[in-house]
Amino acid sequence: MQKIIVTGGTGYIGSHVVVDLITKGYQPIIIDNLSNSERSVLEGIKKITDKDVEFADIDLCDREATLSFFEQHRDSIGVIHFAALKSVGESVEKPLKYYRNNLDSLINILQGMESYNIPNLIFSSSCTVYGEPDALPVTELSAIKPATSPYGHTKQMGEEIIMNFLKSNSNVKAISLRYFNPIGAHDSAYIGELPTGVPSNLMPYITQTAIGKRECLSVFGDDYKTHDGTALRDYIHVCDLADAHTMALEKIIGDSNSKNYDTYNLGVGTGYSVLDVIKSFERSTDQKLNYKIAPRRAGDVSAIYADNTKATKEL
Ligand code: UD1
Repeated sequence: MQKIIVTGGTGYIGSHVVVDLITKGYQPIIIDNLSNSERSVLEGIKKITDKDVEFADIDLCDREATLSFFEQHRDSIGVIHFAALKSVGESVEKPLKYYRNNLDSLINILQGMESYNIPNLIFSSSCTVYGEPDALPVTELSAIKPATSPYGHTKQMGEEIIMNFLKSNSNVKAISLRYFNPIGAHDSAYIGELPTGVPSNLMPYITQTAIGKRECLSVFGDDYKTHDGTALRDYIHVCDLADAHTMALEKIIGDSNSKNYDTYNLGVGTGYSVLDVIKSFERSTDQKLNYKIAPRRAGDVSAIYADNTKATKEL
Protein backbone atom coordinates (compact mmCIF):
# COMPACT_ATOMS: atom_id res chain seq x y z
CA MET A 1 0.00 0.00 0.00
CA GLN A 2 1.43 3.43 -0.91
CA LYS A 3 2.30 5.57 2.09
CA ILE A 4 1.47 9.29 2.13
CA ILE A 5 2.59 11.65 4.90
CA VAL A 6 -0.27 13.99 5.83
CA THR A 7 0.78 16.97 7.95
CA GLY A 8 -2.11 18.48 9.85
CA GLY A 9 -4.04 15.25 9.34
CA THR A 10 -6.19 15.66 12.46
CA GLY A 11 -7.29 19.14 11.31
CA TYR A 12 -10.49 20.00 9.49
CA ILE A 13 -9.46 19.50 5.86
CA GLY A 14 -6.65 17.07 6.72
CA SER A 15 -8.96 14.59 8.44
CA HIS A 16 -11.34 14.52 5.46
CA VAL A 17 -8.40 13.92 3.12
CA VAL A 18 -7.12 11.10 5.35
CA VAL A 19 -10.54 9.41 5.03
CA ASP A 20 -10.53 9.95 1.25
CA LEU A 21 -7.01 8.47 0.92
CA ILE A 22 -7.90 5.38 2.98
CA THR A 23 -11.09 4.87 0.98
CA LYS A 24 -9.03 4.96 -2.22
CA GLY A 25 -6.46 2.43 -0.99
CA TYR A 26 -3.60 4.60 0.29
CA GLN A 27 -1.93 4.45 3.70
CA PRO A 28 -1.84 7.94 5.23
CA ILE A 29 0.54 8.66 8.12
CA ILE A 30 -0.47 11.70 10.16
CA ILE A 31 1.89 14.22 11.70
CA ASP A 32 0.20 16.94 13.77
CA ASN A 33 0.95 18.89 16.97
CA LEU A 34 -2.76 19.12 17.90
CA SER A 35 -2.50 22.93 18.17
CA ASN A 36 -5.93 23.37 16.59
CA SER A 37 -7.36 19.85 16.64
CA GLU A 38 -8.13 17.01 19.03
CA ARG A 39 -6.73 13.51 19.24
CA SER A 40 -10.33 12.21 19.23
CA VAL A 41 -10.44 12.96 15.48
CA LEU A 42 -8.46 9.73 15.07
CA GLU A 43 -11.40 7.84 16.57
CA GLY A 44 -13.74 9.54 14.11
CA ILE A 45 -11.50 8.46 11.22
CA LYS A 46 -11.48 4.90 12.58
CA LYS A 47 -15.27 4.81 12.88
CA ILE A 48 -15.61 5.81 9.22
CA THR A 49 -12.84 3.70 7.70
CA ASP A 50 -12.39 0.87 10.21
CA LYS A 51 -8.64 1.57 10.07
CA ASP A 52 -6.16 2.74 12.72
CA VAL A 53 -4.05 5.52 11.26
CA GLU A 54 -0.46 5.95 12.40
CA PHE A 55 -0.12 9.28 14.18
CA ALA A 56 2.90 11.29 15.37
CA ASP A 57 2.47 14.23 17.73
CA ILE A 58 5.29 16.39 16.39
CA ASP A 59 5.65 20.14 15.86
CA LEU A 60 6.93 20.61 12.31
CA CYS A 61 8.90 23.65 13.47
CA ASP A 62 11.05 21.19 15.43
CA ARG A 63 13.63 20.45 12.76
CA GLU A 64 15.27 17.45 14.40
CA ALA A 65 11.98 15.73 15.23
CA THR A 66 10.61 16.40 11.73
CA LEU A 67 13.70 15.04 9.97
CA SER A 68 13.74 11.96 12.14
CA PHE A 69 10.04 11.38 11.27
CA PHE A 70 10.83 11.72 7.56
CA GLU A 71 13.76 9.32 7.90
CA GLN A 72 11.46 6.79 9.55
CA HIS A 73 8.93 7.20 6.72
CA ARG A 74 11.37 7.53 3.82
CA ASP A 75 9.40 4.90 1.88
CA SER A 76 6.47 7.37 1.52
CA ILE A 77 5.61 8.39 -2.03
CA GLY A 78 4.39 11.85 -1.15
CA VAL A 79 3.49 14.52 1.36
CA ILE A 80 0.23 16.43 1.65
CA HIS A 81 1.01 19.50 3.72
CA PHE A 82 -1.90 21.09 5.61
CA ALA A 83 -0.40 21.94 9.00
CA ALA A 84 -0.46 25.73 9.32
CA LEU A 85 -1.99 28.59 11.24
CA LYS A 86 -4.90 30.02 9.27
CA SER A 87 -6.70 32.82 11.04
CA VAL A 88 -6.63 35.95 8.88
CA GLY A 89 -7.47 38.28 11.81
CA GLU A 90 -5.00 36.73 14.26
CA SER A 91 -2.23 36.92 11.66
CA VAL A 92 -2.69 40.70 11.45
CA GLU A 93 -2.26 40.93 15.25
CA LYS A 94 0.58 38.39 15.54
CA PRO A 95 2.46 38.41 12.23
CA LEU A 96 5.70 36.90 13.54
CA LYS A 97 3.84 33.88 14.92
CA TYR A 98 2.47 33.25 11.41
CA TYR A 99 5.76 33.74 9.55
CA ARG A 100 7.64 31.60 12.08
CA ASN A 101 5.14 28.74 12.14
CA ASN A 102 4.02 28.54 8.52
CA LEU A 103 7.45 29.04 6.95
CA ASP A 104 9.70 27.11 9.36
CA SER A 105 7.43 24.09 9.09
CA LEU A 106 7.41 24.18 5.28
CA ILE A 107 11.19 24.51 5.13
CA ASN A 108 11.62 21.53 7.48
CA ILE A 109 9.26 19.44 5.34
CA LEU A 110 11.12 20.29 2.14
CA GLN A 111 14.37 19.46 3.90
CA GLY A 112 12.92 16.08 4.86
CA MET A 113 11.75 15.43 1.28
CA GLU A 114 15.18 16.35 -0.08
CA SER A 115 17.15 14.32 2.46
CA TYR A 116 15.03 11.17 2.10
CA ASN A 117 14.02 11.39 -1.59
CA ILE A 118 10.28 11.75 -1.19
CA PRO A 119 9.17 12.83 -4.65
CA ASN A 120 5.67 14.38 -4.50
CA LEU A 121 4.13 17.31 -2.61
CA ILE A 122 0.60 18.69 -2.44
CA PHE A 123 0.62 22.10 -0.76
CA SER A 124 -2.36 23.60 0.98
CA SER A 125 -2.51 27.07 -0.53
CA SER A 126 -5.34 29.55 -0.60
CA CYS A 127 -7.25 31.97 -2.80
CA THR A 128 -5.80 34.53 -0.43
CA VAL A 129 -2.71 34.56 -2.72
CA TYR A 130 -4.73 36.68 -5.18
CA GLY A 131 -5.11 39.48 -2.62
CA GLU A 132 -7.95 41.89 -3.52
CA PRO A 133 -8.54 40.80 -7.14
CA ASP A 134 -9.11 43.29 -10.00
CA ALA A 135 -11.59 41.01 -11.80
CA LEU A 136 -13.81 38.09 -10.84
CA PRO A 137 -13.83 35.14 -11.04
CA VAL A 138 -10.10 34.59 -10.50
CA THR A 139 -8.20 32.11 -12.68
CA GLU A 140 -4.82 30.58 -11.86
CA LEU A 141 -3.35 33.25 -14.16
CA SER A 142 -4.85 36.16 -12.21
CA ALA A 143 -2.22 38.44 -10.71
CA ILE A 144 -0.72 37.58 -7.34
CA LYS A 145 -1.51 40.93 -5.69
CA PRO A 146 -0.05 42.14 -2.38
CA ALA A 147 -1.42 39.92 0.38
CA THR A 148 -4.01 41.57 2.62
CA SER A 149 -2.79 39.68 5.71
CA PRO A 150 0.39 38.02 7.02
CA TYR A 151 -1.48 34.69 6.76
CA GLY A 152 -1.99 35.36 3.04
CA HIS A 153 1.63 36.38 2.66
CA THR A 154 2.82 33.07 4.19
CA LYS A 155 0.82 31.23 1.50
CA GLN A 156 2.34 33.38 -1.28
CA MET A 157 5.83 32.85 0.15
CA GLY A 158 5.13 29.14 0.61
CA GLU A 159 4.35 28.77 -3.11
CA GLU A 160 7.52 30.67 -4.02
CA ILE A 161 9.70 28.63 -1.67
CA ILE A 162 8.36 25.43 -3.26
CA MET A 163 9.02 26.74 -6.79
CA ASN A 164 12.61 27.62 -5.87
CA PHE A 165 13.07 24.26 -4.17
CA LEU A 166 11.92 22.42 -7.32
CA LYS A 167 14.55 24.20 -9.43
CA SER A 168 17.29 22.41 -7.52
CA ASN A 169 15.33 19.17 -6.97
CA SER A 170 14.29 18.07 -10.45
CA ASN A 171 13.10 14.67 -9.19
CA VAL A 172 10.36 16.32 -7.09
CA LYS A 173 6.91 17.40 -8.30
CA ALA A 174 4.48 19.66 -6.49
CA ILE A 175 0.98 21.06 -6.81
CA SER A 176 -0.36 24.04 -4.88
CA LEU A 177 -4.11 23.81 -4.31
CA ARG A 178 -5.65 27.23 -3.81
CA TYR A 179 -8.71 26.69 -1.64
CA PHE A 180 -11.62 29.03 -1.51
CA ASN A 181 -13.84 28.56 1.58
CA PRO A 182 -14.24 24.94 2.68
CA ILE A 183 -17.38 24.16 4.69
CA GLY A 184 -19.45 21.13 5.70
CA ALA A 185 -18.48 17.75 7.09
CA HIS A 186 -18.30 14.06 6.26
CA ASP A 187 -21.79 12.55 5.87
CA SER A 188 -21.27 10.39 8.95
CA ALA A 189 -20.59 13.50 11.11
CA TYR A 190 -17.85 11.54 12.89
CA ILE A 191 -15.44 14.20 11.68
CA GLY A 192 -16.08 17.85 10.86
CA GLU A 193 -14.89 21.37 11.57
CA LEU A 194 -13.95 21.35 15.25
CA PRO A 195 -11.69 24.31 15.96
CA THR A 196 -10.35 24.54 19.50
CA GLY A 197 -11.34 27.80 21.23
CA VAL A 198 -13.37 30.55 19.55
CA PRO A 199 -13.76 29.84 15.83
CA SER A 200 -12.48 32.46 13.43
CA ASN A 201 -14.20 31.08 10.34
CA LEU A 202 -17.79 31.84 9.43
CA MET A 203 -19.39 28.41 9.29
CA PRO A 204 -18.27 27.03 12.68
CA TYR A 205 -19.22 30.38 14.22
CA ILE A 206 -22.69 30.03 12.72
CA THR A 207 -23.18 26.47 13.94
CA GLN A 208 -21.85 27.25 17.42
CA THR A 209 -24.21 30.24 17.64
CA ALA A 210 -27.10 28.07 16.52
CA ILE A 211 -26.51 25.56 19.33
CA GLY A 212 -26.11 28.35 21.90
CA LYS A 213 -22.38 27.90 22.49
CA ARG A 214 -21.78 31.47 21.21
CA GLU A 215 -24.18 34.24 22.02
CA CYS A 216 -24.14 36.24 18.81
CA LEU A 217 -22.50 36.06 15.39
CA SER A 218 -20.81 39.29 14.23
CA VAL A 219 -21.15 39.99 10.52
CA PHE A 220 -17.88 41.74 9.67
CA GLY A 221 -18.84 44.74 7.52
CA ASP A 222 -21.99 45.65 5.60
CA ASP A 223 -20.48 48.45 3.51
CA TYR A 224 -18.71 46.39 0.84
CA LYS A 225 -19.68 46.96 -2.80
CA THR A 226 -21.73 43.77 -3.06
CA HIS A 227 -25.48 43.08 -3.53
CA ASP A 228 -26.19 43.35 0.23
CA GLY A 229 -23.02 45.06 1.47
CA THR A 230 -21.50 41.93 3.07
CA ALA A 231 -18.40 40.18 1.73
CA LEU A 232 -18.61 37.53 -1.03
CA ARG A 233 -16.87 34.17 -0.83
CA ASP A 234 -16.90 30.85 -2.69
CA TYR A 235 -17.96 28.04 -0.30
CA ILE A 236 -16.90 24.53 -1.32
CA HIS A 237 -17.87 21.28 0.40
CA VAL A 238 -14.93 19.81 2.30
CA CYS A 239 -15.49 16.31 0.83
CA ASP A 240 -15.22 17.71 -2.71
CA LEU A 241 -12.05 19.44 -1.62
CA ALA A 242 -10.72 16.19 -0.13
CA ASP A 243 -11.49 14.31 -3.34
CA ALA A 244 -9.53 16.93 -5.31
CA HIS A 245 -6.43 16.31 -3.16
CA THR A 246 -6.35 12.62 -4.03
CA MET A 247 -6.91 13.49 -7.69
CA ALA A 248 -4.03 15.99 -7.59
CA LEU A 249 -1.78 13.42 -5.95
CA GLU A 250 -2.70 10.82 -8.57
CA LYS A 251 -1.97 13.32 -11.30
CA ILE A 252 1.62 13.87 -10.22
CA ILE A 253 2.26 10.26 -9.26
CA GLY A 254 0.61 8.65 -12.25
CA ASP A 255 1.18 11.06 -15.14
CA SER A 256 4.85 11.13 -16.10
CA ASN A 257 4.13 14.01 -18.47
CA SER A 258 2.66 16.23 -15.74
CA LYS A 259 4.52 19.47 -15.06
CA ASN A 260 6.88 19.54 -12.10
CA TYR A 261 4.84 22.40 -10.59
CA ASP A 262 1.25 23.47 -11.04
CA THR A 263 -1.52 25.39 -9.27
CA TYR A 264 -5.27 24.76 -9.14
CA ASN A 265 -8.19 26.79 -7.83
CA LEU A 266 -10.56 24.70 -5.71
CA GLY A 267 -13.89 26.49 -5.49
CA VAL A 268 -17.39 26.06 -6.91
CA GLY A 269 -17.36 29.26 -8.94
CA THR A 270 -20.15 31.23 -7.26
CA GLY A 271 -19.86 34.05 -4.74
CA TYR A 272 -22.25 34.13 -1.77
CA SER A 273 -22.41 36.95 0.76
CA VAL A 274 -22.21 36.47 4.53
CA LEU A 275 -25.92 37.33 4.74
CA ASP A 276 -26.70 34.83 1.94
CA VAL A 277 -25.01 32.13 4.02
CA ILE A 278 -26.88 33.13 7.19
CA LYS A 279 -30.25 33.16 5.40
CA SER A 280 -29.55 29.85 3.75
CA PHE A 281 -28.61 28.34 7.12
CA GLU A 282 -31.82 29.72 8.67
CA ARG A 283 -33.92 28.34 5.81
CA SER A 284 -32.46 24.86 5.91
CA THR A 285 -32.48 24.47 9.70
CA ASP A 286 -35.71 26.39 10.25
CA GLN A 287 -33.99 28.23 13.06
CA LYS A 288 -33.28 31.97 13.57
CA LEU A 289 -29.68 32.92 14.08
CA ASN A 290 -28.69 35.66 16.50
CA TYR A 291 -26.41 38.03 14.56
CA LYS A 292 -25.39 41.68 14.48
CA ILE A 293 -23.53 43.87 12.02
CA ALA A 294 -20.00 44.66 13.20
CA PRO A 295 -17.08 46.64 11.69
CA ARG A 296 -15.02 45.13 8.88
CA ARG A 297 -12.36 42.62 9.96
CA ALA A 298 -8.72 43.60 9.29
CA GLY A 299 -7.19 41.64 6.41
CA ASP A 300 -10.51 40.72 4.70
CA VAL A 301 -11.07 41.21 0.96
CA SER A 302 -14.49 42.33 -0.26
CA ALA A 303 -15.20 39.64 -2.84
CA ILE A 304 -13.53 36.56 -4.29
CA TYR A 305 -14.73 33.47 -6.15
CA ALA A 306 -13.11 30.93 -8.41
CA ASP A 307 -12.88 30.14 -12.06
CA ASN A 308 -12.51 26.37 -11.57
CA THR A 309 -12.19 25.41 -15.26
CA LYS A 310 -8.61 24.18 -14.92
CA ALA A 311 -9.29 21.85 -11.97
CA THR A 312 -12.46 20.54 -13.62
CA LYS A 313 -10.61 19.76 -16.87
CA GLU A 314 -7.29 18.50 -15.57
CA LEU A 315 -8.12 16.83 -12.27
C1 UD1 B 1 -9.63 33.09 4.49
C2 UD1 B 1 -9.02 32.85 3.14
C3 UD1 B 1 -9.22 31.40 2.78
C4 UD1 B 1 -8.63 30.52 3.86
C5 UD1 B 1 -9.28 30.86 5.21
C6 UD1 B 1 -8.58 30.11 6.32
C7 UD1 B 1 -9.23 34.95 1.90
C8 UD1 B 1 -9.95 35.66 0.85
N1 UD1 B 1 -9.65 33.69 2.13
O1 UD1 B 1 -10.99 32.85 4.37
O2 UD1 B 1 -8.57 31.13 1.56
O3 UD1 B 1 -8.88 29.16 3.57
O4 UD1 B 1 -9.09 32.24 5.47
O5 UD1 B 1 -9.09 30.52 7.56
O6 UD1 B 1 -8.29 35.44 2.52
N2 UD1 B 1 -17.13 36.37 8.84
C9 UD1 B 1 -18.07 37.05 9.62
N3 UD1 B 1 -18.16 36.69 10.93
C10 UD1 B 1 -17.39 35.73 11.51
C11 UD1 B 1 -16.46 35.03 10.70
C12 UD1 B 1 -16.35 35.39 9.37
O7 UD1 B 1 -18.76 37.92 9.14
O8 UD1 B 1 -17.53 35.49 12.71
C13 UD1 B 1 -17.04 36.72 7.42
C14 UD1 B 1 -15.64 37.16 7.01
O9 UD1 B 1 -15.46 38.54 7.20
C15 UD1 B 1 -15.64 36.75 5.53
C16 UD1 B 1 -16.54 35.50 5.49
O10 UD1 B 1 -17.32 35.55 6.69
O11 UD1 B 1 -16.25 37.73 4.74
C17 UD1 B 1 -15.74 34.22 5.50
O12 UD1 B 1 -14.78 34.30 6.55
P1 UD1 B 1 -13.88 33.06 6.99
O13 UD1 B 1 -14.72 31.86 7.14
O14 UD1 B 1 -13.07 33.51 8.15
O15 UD1 B 1 -12.94 32.80 5.77
P2 UD1 B 1 -12.08 33.86 4.89
O16 UD1 B 1 -11.49 34.89 5.76
O17 UD1 B 1 -12.85 34.25 3.70
